[in-house]
Amino acid sequence: MRTPLIAGNWKMNGSTELVEAFGQAFSDVTLPAPLDVAIFPPYPYLDVARSAFAGTPVRLGAQTLNPLHSGAHTGEVSGRMLREFDVQYVLVGHSERRQLYRESDAEVHDRLLAALGVDLTPVLCVGETLEERDAGRTMEVVLRQVGFVMARLEPEQRARVVIAYEPVWAIGTGRTATPEQAQEVMAGIREYQAGYDRDLAAGLRLLYGGSMNASNAVELLAQPDIDGGLVGGASLKVDDFLAICQSAG
Ligand code: G3P
Repeated sequence: MRTPLIAGNWKMNGSTELVEAFGQAFSDVTLPAPLDVAIFPPYPYLDVARSAFAGTPVRLGAQTLNPLHSGAHTGEVSGRMLREFDVQYVLVGHSERRQLYRESDAEVHDRLLAALGVDLTPVLCVGETLEERDAGRTMEVVLRQVGFVMARLEPEQRARVVIAYEPVWAIGTGRTATPEQAQEVMAGIREYQAGYDRDLAAGLRLLYGGSMNASNAVELLAQPDIDGGLVGGASLKVDDFLAICQSAG
């Protein structure tokens, strides 16, 4: 009943050439159905990606957005601008934004609200650090991040959010959470949502992120509460990303 989503977050990587290689590879491919696929390239590639992905199953995502529509905010990009380029998804609260750019839960909430306001599907990223996991605080941290945002949304808005669980210690480290570790946290997130509304929780799409690759995707995606992946490094290689998409059947 939940359509899986495989999302490729290119972070500050990629090139026009890579965008075109993805467009080419996905123009002639049979993917499992149902399946949603999205690539989140850096802003400058959105336009070329829009053309390259036309006629393919790949949809466009952006890596962040400013909560405002326009104004004197040098270097920032608004959701309204992203919509002009047919962007459908946007990441909010990625751990790199939380850590490197000091984005607080309140800022994450503002960005998510702005995304919903222009009909972008927000992918809310949450996850604990290694220290927090070792201290037995994983669920507390994750549910604080989820709860801060969700508690401030209307029921109709909550239903439009995708949540990505990305343990910080698994990001870019080659150290993936075991399927059991990931499942445990994702089940906890779903259960938390059930406190608001059981139907909403049953329909909530939960993605796992953190060193997902072509070899471990099948096992992770087989977990009952994992509805897809938010893939970093492996989404920069056409064949690997395609293989992950194929694993989502
Ligand atoms: O958003 C994706 C992410 O942070 C995971 O990155 O390189 O560990 O797959 P990676």
